[in-house]
This record gives sequence, C-alpha cells and structure tokens, in this order.
Amino acid sequence: MHLLVTGGCGFIGSNFIQHMLAAHQDAVIVNLDKLTYAGNRRNLAEVESLFLGRRYHFVHGDICDQTLVPELLGRFPFDAVLNFAAESHVDRSISDPFPFVTTNVLGTQNLLEAARQAEIPRFVHISTDEVYGSLGPTGQFTEDTPLAPNSPYSASKASSDLLARAYFHTYAMPVIVTRCSNNYGPYQFPEKLVPLVYLKASRNEAIPVYGDGQNVRDWIHVMDHCRGVEAALLKGTPGAVYNFGGDAERTNLEVVRTILKLSGKSEDLISFVADRPGHDRRYAMAYARSTADLGWTPRQSFEDGMASTLAWYTSNGAWLDEVQSGAYRQFMDKWYRTRQA
Ligand code: NAD
Ligand code: DAU
Repeated sequence: MHLLVTGGCGFIGSNFIQHMLAAHQDAVIVNLDKLTYAGNRRNLAEVESLFLGRRYHFVHGDICDQTLVPELLGRFPFDAVLNFAAESHVDRSISDPFPFVTTNVLGTQNLLEAARQAEIPRFVHISTDEVYGSLGPTGQFTEDTPLAPNSPYSASKASSDLLARAYFHTYAMPVIVTRCSNNYGPYQFPEKLVPLVYLKASRNEAIPVYGDGQNVRDWIHVMDHCRGVEAALLKGTPGAVYNFGGDAERTNLEVVRTILKLSGKSEDLISFVADRPGHDRRYAMAYARSTADLGWTPRQSFEDGMASTLAWYTSNGAWLDEVQSGAYRQFMDKWYRTRQA
C-alpha cells in the first residue's frame, strides 16, 4: 500500500505515519511537508531511523507547487493521498488569513487536480468540526449539518471540503472527507490549548483563558483520530463525509483545571484575557455514521488520555524546548502582548 501523506511532520500527520507504519507491514509512505513553523522532522526521528529510504520517504515541498505535486504522484504507484497539510491555528488565521487561503484552499485544489490527473484510486481529505460553526447549549453536529464556518481558518477548511465534494460529483473522483473534533496527544505544537497550558504551568507562568472560559470543545486523543482516518481510508465510501468525536465535551476552564491538577499546580495561575474574536461557543460531534460504516468508536477516555499526554510532555522536554524556539517565541510573545485584558 503506497500512501502520499501531506503535512506528515505536523501533530496529527506524524502520529498517523507512526501508526500506519507500525500497523501495516505493506505500507510505504511518502511524506510531503513544507516544514512551516508547525512542522518538525524530529517528530518522525524514530520512523526515519527505522525506515527512511525504504518504507518511508520524506519530500520537503509545498502542496501548492504545481510542478512538484504532479511529478511526485508519478514517482510511486500510489493507492491513496491523505491530505493533512494545513495552516491549522485559529488565532493565526485571525492575525493573517492569507496563508490559510493559500495552503488550505489552493493547496488542496492543487492536490485534488494532480490526483485526478494521475487517477489515484483514493483521496482522503482531513477536515474539522469547525466547518459546522457554533452550537447552542444542546445538540450535536452530524455530517448533514450545514456548513457555517466563523473564522478564516474554518472558512478555508470548509472551502477545501467543498472542493473535495465538487471533485467527487463532477469527476467521480473517489474523495472522502473526515471531520474531527479537538485533538490532544504527543507532538502537538505548544500554541494549542493543551500543550500551551502544560508548558506555562510547568514554568509557573500565567495561563491565558479567553473570555469567560465557558466555551466548550469536544476532546479526542490523536490516536483515536488516526484510527478513524485509517478506517476511512480502508473502508470508507467514496463521496462520504465521516465525523469523529471523543465523547468528551469540556469547557475550556475544565480543561485548564484538569491540566493544572495533573501537573500539581495552583489554579491561581489562571488569567482571564480578552476573548478570541468570533469565538465559537460550543462544538459537539455525532459520529454514528463512522460507527455504522467504519466500525469506529473512540477508545481513550479524556482523563486517561490527558494523563498519558502530560506524561509524554514531561518526558519530552527537549522536544518542547526545540519547537518553542525561534518563530514560535516571536509570534506568541507578540500575540500575548496585544491580548492581555
Ligand atoms: P499542524 O499545524 O500541527 O501541522 C500541519 C503540517 O502541515 C505541518 O507539518 C506543516 O509543515 C505542514 N504544511 C503546512 N502548509 C503546508 C504546505 N503548503 N505544503 C506542505 N505542507 C504544509 O496541524 P495538525 O493539528 O496536525 O492538523 C492536521 C490536519 O488536521 C489539518 O488539516 C487540520 O485542519 C486538521 N484537524 C486538526 C485538528 C486538531 O485538533 N489539531 C482537529 C481536526 C482536524
Ligand atoms: O475543533 C477542531 C480544531 O481544534 C482544529 O480544526 C484546529 O486545527 C485546532 O487548532 C483546534 O482549534 P481550536 O481553536 O479549538 O484550538 P485551540 O487549542 O487554539 O483552542 C481551544 C479552545 O481554548 C478555544 O475555545 C480557545 C481557547 N484558548 C486557546 C488558547 C490557545 C484559550 O482560552 N486560551 C489559549 O491560550
């Protein structure tokens, strides 16, 4: 099974590659990654030491590259493309939406077109619950919930989902879209809530909670998401959308308190700051279709998954030190300077 994985040096892509190479002895994976601030080859150091040049190949490049992508698709007999590559952080999309439109929309379009020309038999596009917009106090998103994205990030992801849909309907291309709730786990860049809170707590720094802290997200361990993408790849119906959720709705304040408790730190570190503009209030995912069609359910409880995740960050301090240097530091310092309430 030859797979082109894009964005494989990021958080979810690197977990997915590790999982697939371990679970499928016949898997050969080519990872196309631009190595933005969020991509780190070190996430796949073990994979490189075991498989580089044999079952794993790395290509440093951009999914928007209209020469490289078609050429790459002709280099191996690919059975599928899995598109994880994206600009993924909502706050950054508010500061500067342009890279989000470039990579998430134009990059996906470039991949879809190249995969169509190369007649790749499967294209799995990795998307998000944020395309559905915001829920009130009750209800859940299903795959039939109308798209109503509210941030430049989610608008760019919804746009790419619609291009994927159009390629299925117009060209009968075997495209599958997966949408998942908030992931946590190893190798997540510490701009996202969970590793950010862990890092700040470990340094006894103030932890910024946006608005009143009552926004609700559904949390899922990254490996449950990876198993869902794997099931969609192997068993999904072309043209279908599949939701993945973690059955773990929590307010942001509850998440922060859980991390502080597991880290043995005081809640006095919590600092309420100005709200994120256009901040979606609540997400919740119904995933009955994924259970019925793919046999998928999440396995990790929030409490166990969070404890093992924090243990991973504790034993991987060198990784955290590395990724938070340079561009990360400059961006976050500027961001917080402008946001303190
Ligand atoms: P991430 O930001 O950690 O990683 C993104 C990766 O894509 C990085 O390795 C980066 O270098 C690469 N990349 C960015 N632009 C590129 C380009 N133009 N060409 C090639 N590579 C490029 O993101 P993540 O959290 O791992 O998210 C992966 C995918 O899953 C995204 O599509 C995201 O929208 C989706 N998703 C994420 C979550 C979540 O909670 N993190 C939830 C649902 C869906
Ligand atoms: O729902 C899936 C999405 O989850 C993915 O599509 C995105 O790629 C991913 O980044 C994530 O988006 P969020 O905006 O939900 O994640 P983030 O970790 O940035 O924020 C989670 C919640 O915590 C959100 O309500 C904002 C809040 N927050 C975040 C940060 C970084 C804070 O209160 N303080 C913070 O410092």
